[in-house]
Amino acid sequence: MTQAAEIGATGIGKQFGQFTALADITLTIARGEFLTLLGPSGSGKTTFLMVLSGFEAPSSGRLTLNGTDMTDLAAERRGFGMVFQGYALFPHMTAEENIAFPLKVQGRTAAEVKRRVDEMIGMVGLGGHGHKRPSGLSGGQQQRVALARALAYAPPVLLLDEPFSALDKNLRGQMQDEMRRLHRETGTTFVFVTHDQEEALALSSRVAIFDKGRLQQLAPPREVYERPANRFVAEFLGDINILPVKGGRIEGRAVQAPGATGDLAIRPEYMALALAQPEDGNAVAATLNDLTYLGAETRLSLVTSGGVPIVLHQQTSDLPAGLAPGASVWATWAPGHGFLL
Ligand SMILES: Nc1ncnc2c1ncn2[C@@H]1O[C@H](COP(=O)(O)OP(=O)(O)O)[C@@H](O)[C@H]1O
Ligand SMILES: [Mg+2]
Repeated sequence: MTQAAEIGATGIGKQFGQFTALADITLTIARGEFLTLLGPSGSGKTTFLMVLSGFEAPSSGRLTLNGTDMTDLAAERRGFGMVFQGYALFPHMTAEENIAFPLKVQGRTAAEVKRRVDEMIGMVGLGGHGHKRPSGLSGGQQQRVALARALAYAPPVLLLDEPFSALDKNLRGQMQDEMRRLHRETGTTFVFVTHDQEEALALSSRVAIFDKGRLQQLAPPREVYERPANRFVAEFLGDINILPVKGGRIEGRAVQAPGATGDLAIRPEYMALALAQPEDGNAVAATLNDLTYLGAETRLSLVTSGGVPIVLHQQTSDLPAGLAPGASVWATWAPGHGFLL
């Protein structure tokens, strides 16, 4: 079986005429890693994946495969597996024939092809469906066939471009669990594209965040969420409260950011509501504007005395009884949960 590969990109740029789709992308994708490219629509994710695959040539920069230059290596010589948004299965072939196709192209013996197809059908949970054509399979099943076909010849790298975006939410969750298992079982290097923040955080060993063709941050999920490198990353990954700090003070009150001036960012789930000014710790005075009951959680909208909006996510069971819009409150946070942008 082929070994999982390491990929290096140095200074990758891509121009479409005057338009810069990628600018100076430098990163290393480790052997057997599950790397996700995350960013808004048009940020260059697909373009970067196409450059990795060899179907688009970069305008500048170099690519390596296991340390050897592959910048000018043709796509078919790279031999990466690919799964795209449309399933792109051969409609006239059964699931088994679709999966067998790349193996036959490689000239494997009939016995080998059969053994591998059976193995792949089992791996993606399609037992009993192998004889069906794509039109007889659900969207989720078709995407499993596409995954099995791409993984059948044990490619050194699997490239996936928003493979689940056409599936409904429940099915997506299932496919995500499946992806994690397939990644574990195959040990292949996975490069996965999504614009869905939760999907990226749930799946990846590391997340590469793209905006306007530039790499904004590359780090494990927890780090991009809790220690975003900049304001774009902080805001792209979910609700965040941003409080201006001047000389270590927020709205005149000292906080644990000695001498700092800038924007202090705190995730809503790391802030808490207090009815009285806490004796120590970080706090800012605010008025409660709105409460949204969400079951286990309640979402609170506040505005500070200085006019800065704040959102808190609180356990409903922890909220004081009788709390109503208009109340004077304090928003507090533990040291270490705020970070300067
Ligand atoms: N072949 C092309 N010709 C011109 N512009 C392109 C081409 N492919 C992509 N682009 C542009 O490059 C930008 C990035 O596209 P893409 O990589 O598809 O973004 P994403 O996958 O993040 O949504 C977009 O503005 C897109 O319009
Ligand atoms: Mg895309």
